[in-house]
Amino acid sequence: ETVSPRRKIDLLIAAPRGFCAGVDRAIRIVELALERYGAPVYVRHEIVHNRYVVDGLKAKGAVFVEHLDDVPDDLPVIFSAHGVPKSVPEAASARGLEYLDATCPLVSKVHRQAEKMVTEGRHILFVGHRGHPEVIGTFGQVPEGTISLVETAADAEAIEVNDPGNLAFLTQTTLSVDDTSEIVTILKRRFPAILAPKGEDICYATSNRQAAVKSIAGKCDVVLVIGAPNSSNSLRLVEVAQRSGCVAHLVQRGLDVDLAWFDGARTVGITAGASAPETLVREVIDRLAERFELTEREVVTATEGIAFKLPKALQ
Ligand code: F3S
Repeated sequence: ETVSPRRKIDLLIAAPRGFCAGVDRAIRIVELALERYGAPVYVRHEIVHNRYVVDGLKAKGAVFVEHLDDVPDDLPVIFSAHGVPKSVPEAASARGLEYLDATCPLVSKVHRQAEKMVTEGRHILFVGHRGHPEVIGTFGQVPEGTISLVETAADAEAIEVNDPGNLAFLTQTTLSVDDTSEIVTILKRRFPAILAPKGEDICYATSNRQAAVKSIAGKCDVVLVIGAPNSSNSLRLVEVAQRSGCVAHLVQRGLDVDLAWFDGARTVGITAGASAPETLVREVIDRLAERFELTEREVVTATEGIAFKLPKALQ
């Protein structure tokens, strides 16, 4: 039997990719809570949007629920990295539950700004995706009616406000950098007095990963983004790659990869969303290596040295 030589593919691996400091911290919090309290430890919502991570923690004794009501009395509960409305820790305290907050500090920063803006009497226009837990959490920091959602440029053009002199805007941390700047430009044109957030709300990890995939996508025939379908920042990476004119696929793990996608492809790019572990990147590369002869090259557009402190209760 003759074995035909495997076709060559150049693999460009974007960096930074994968875990951000907020995801890293959130997972650590669950692991340390399991050590400290023993299993089971309850987690409200997927700690980060990645099934592999969630399943790994389940195996160690974490129990994931969507509602605080599903947490039994006397057991500790952890809030996910996306943040929660204020009513959630309040309800936990009212029940005497011990809770740990794994909300990313960069999301908490947006929460505190929302509170401050509303205290100052401003109405907030919040740029984000309806239904995402981070949006629900941020809306839940301020009284109903003090914050309105703007999802698209069309929304920004259409939205009507009562008092254009007393406006502010904030954004979700995991948005498309380009779409958001377009939306913000519209808001500033329509409402010149609108107060901007202090610094950028889109987090360093989101913007670094988008810049990194942009830098490789133009050279690629196909880009694979490793991430979950409910992971906002991963979906944005797919869009960024597609806008550069290449075919991009979101995959959760190696088995999701259809080798037919690479018919005729010479250069393939790989990146991973902020909640996707590096193990899955390797798994996807191994899957490609089953069929192709790969030349791997990492393309680094930034280096990240950020780490967040753990909650005091776990230090
Ligand atoms: Fe935080 Fe950004 Fe990661 S908001 S959880 S550092 S994607």
